[in-house]
Amino acid sequence: MLDTIFNHRTIRKYKSTPIEDSVLEEILKAGTRASTTGNTQVYSMVVTKEKELKEKLWETQFKQDMVKEAPVVITFCADVNRYTKWCQYRKADPHYHNFLWFFTASIDALLASQNVALAAEANGLGICYMGPTIYLARKIIDVLDLPKGVVPVATLVVGYPDEDPPLTDRLPLEGVVHYETYKDYTKEDIDRIYAEKEAMEETRELLEINQKETLAQIFTDNRYKKDDNLHFSRELLDVLRQQGFMDHEKEEDR
Ligand SMILES: Cc1cc2nc3c(=O)[nH]c(=O)nc-3n(C[C@H](O)[C@H](O)[C@H](O)COP(=O)(O)O)c2cc1C
Repeated sequence: MLDTIFNHRTIRKYKSTPIEDSVLEEILKAGTRASTTGNTQVYSMVVTKEKELKEKLWETQFKQDMVKEAPVVITFCADVNRYTKWCQYRKADPHYHNFLWFFTASIDALLASQNVALAAEANGLGICYMGPTIYLARKIIDVLDLPKGVVPVATLVVGYPDEDPPLTDRLPLEGVVHYETYKDYTKEDIDRIYAEKEAMEETRELLEINQKETLAQIFTDNRYKKDDNLHFSRELLDVLRQQGFMDHEKEEDR
């Protein structure tokens, strides 16, 4: 298992080879073995294999081709719908259409997704998480027919790799670990923690291509920009309202 973790690399090119049903079932089962809030499993996994549906999902994923190429796309959803229905059918009084349970259900969904990712990799498959899921959640809700109480929070494309990319860098452990209590970062700490990343040949090339002075500017000006961040934050909050995860704002629930 540790080998799988330490060899992880995102795969962006896939063979068209289908995933055997038994393997797919095993990796989905691995998802369900993740820790889950009170064993409620407040998530769903939507498995998409149909070409037409994958094409619609590809549109929602900023047309990144691995969504069309990989044989399987799995959308992990925060889901209080099924659990709420179970409560209602069992004469219980559920109150899960609120932000707390969106967050709770998202944690469950993400833990399941990472178990699926690792199980897939342990079976020789490759995976790629798809970032636009939370930007264009509304469109995914339409494509996948997600009812109220269900919001997509992560997408994994899964398939047999058609590339063997190198391992990507990570910040040194001291950059992300605090012992006992949080020690805030001084400028010197930041300089030291980011030194290796900033000195990489890949960084030099990126600066040249993007005509920027620092790597951080590529993130703030090109990759995760202010306008997008504001726009997609508002969009996501609207989606949460639409899907009934902000009912705590309503007068009767105050
Ligand atoms: C939430 C999330 C969203 C991501 N979205 C994308 C994406 O839209 N396209 C892509 O090519 N990679 C995406 N990635 C993959 C990251 O770019 C990748 O994990 C990171 O660069 C580190 O590389 P590694 O996974 O090979 O170690 C995403 C990863 C995460 C966790």
